[in-house]
Amino acid sequence: MELKKAVKTRRSVRSFSPRLVDKGIIEGIISDALWAPSWGNTQPWEITVVTGGLLATFKEENKQAAMSGKPPDPDIPMPLEWPEINKNRYRDIGRRTLEALSIPREDAEARLNFYTHMMKLFDAPALILITVDRAVSLEYSMLDAGLFAQTLCLLSHERGLGTCIMAAAVQYPDILRRLVKITDTKRIVIGVALGWPDQESPVNTFERARGGLDEFVRWVE
Ligand SMILES: Cc1cc2nc3c(=O)[nH]c(=O)nc-3n(C[C@H](O)[C@H](O)[C@H](O)COP(=O)(O)O)c2cc1C
Repeated sequence: MELKKAVKTRRSVRSFSPRLVDKGIIEGIISDALWAPSWGNTQPWEITVVTGGLLATFKEENKQAAMSGKPPDPDIPMPLEWPEINKNRYRDIGRRTLEALSIPREDAEARLNFYTHMMKLFDAPALILITVDRAVSLEYSMLDAGLFAQTLCLLSHERGLGTCIMAAAVQYPDILRRLVKITDTKRIVIGVALGWPDQESPVNTFERARGGLDEFVRWVE
């Protein structure tokens, strides 16, 4: 796939087919994504691929934790406040997502079901966790992890796979630490849900929005 096309047609996938992804395919994608750039070529990312029964247990526990009202305690704190412009974009994607699912804003039960589905990683058959050692620079390793994540998403997309980068996968790191055996010396940065996208689902195909050059770019000479 042409690079520009890959960049412009990748979407966060929120409905997956139950079909499993071969270990060899996942290995190939990760192996290629390891070519992502990093500060001083430090390559601080550590990758854990979670599948099968362990992933099923995680999804259930992640959902239960959210349903019980347990406060999230991610290793990378969630932002509490955003400036208005960012909040508006966040609201907009929420509105578009609900619209694609034909969920009216006032339908609290349907919204809760969607949230539950999210905590179960939209039934993705694989979760790729990115962790970094606490000994490395927090700020730069976050940049590096982000570069790795996007590279991974594009390479997956090239092969017809769908991904969703998910903060919701790492809100309760204690569950992951226990199940997946990640020590406290590691920061659990983010999870990427991976699987074959359900091509028909409107939640995968609805139109996303991006600002234009004038919103982001300033030229100085
Ligand atoms: C750091 C990060 C965390 C995210 N966490 C979630 C999440 O928990 N749940 C979710 O449905 N989408 C999540 N997303 C996906 C974003 O909502 C998505 O990238 C954004 O709305 C733009 O849509 P697109 O990826 O389809 O272009 C996350 C994306 C990033 C980069």
